[in-house]
Amino acid sequence: MKIEQDPIHWKLNYNLNIEDIDFQHHFFANLINRLSKELYSSEQVEYQSALIAELNAYAIFHFISEENMMFRVDYPNLEEHKQHHLALIEQLSNEGNMFRLHPSKDKAEKIIDFLVHWFLNHTLHEDKLFADYLHSKSID
Ligand SMILES: [Fe+2]
Ligand SMILES: [Fe+2]
Repeated sequence: MKIEQDPIHWKLNYNLNIEDIDFQHHFFANLINRLSKELYSSEQVEYQSALIAELNAYAIFHFISEENMMFRVDYPNLEEHKQHHLALIEQLSNEGNMFRLHPSKDKAEKIIDFLVHWFLNHTLHEDKLFADYLHSKSID
């Protein structure tokens, strides 16, 4: 069995130098780490499902927060970025429902892999594009 090691180790280059967003990303990463630990070590499906729900709710909060910030600065890729956010919420809801109905270590592993890849890719690419835009604007 896979051991309960934190799947996300925060690195300096994960910071986008936008205070609120970095704080939220950090929090999000911690939730993924906690979920990973509990999915592998606990057998309490109700609690595990509640953790997935907590992560889902925080993702929604973070995405709205990020999108509002983008709106305030006329970010040209806002609509496209929203679609990426929406896709995560949809997939996480589906995976969460499937896990609750038929919990298994395989499904747990799939959820964690999906979340880690999504988080790192999205943060380091799509969110980074926004950070670059924001920083180029504030220099003007
Ligand atoms: Fe983000
Ligand atoms: Fe984002």
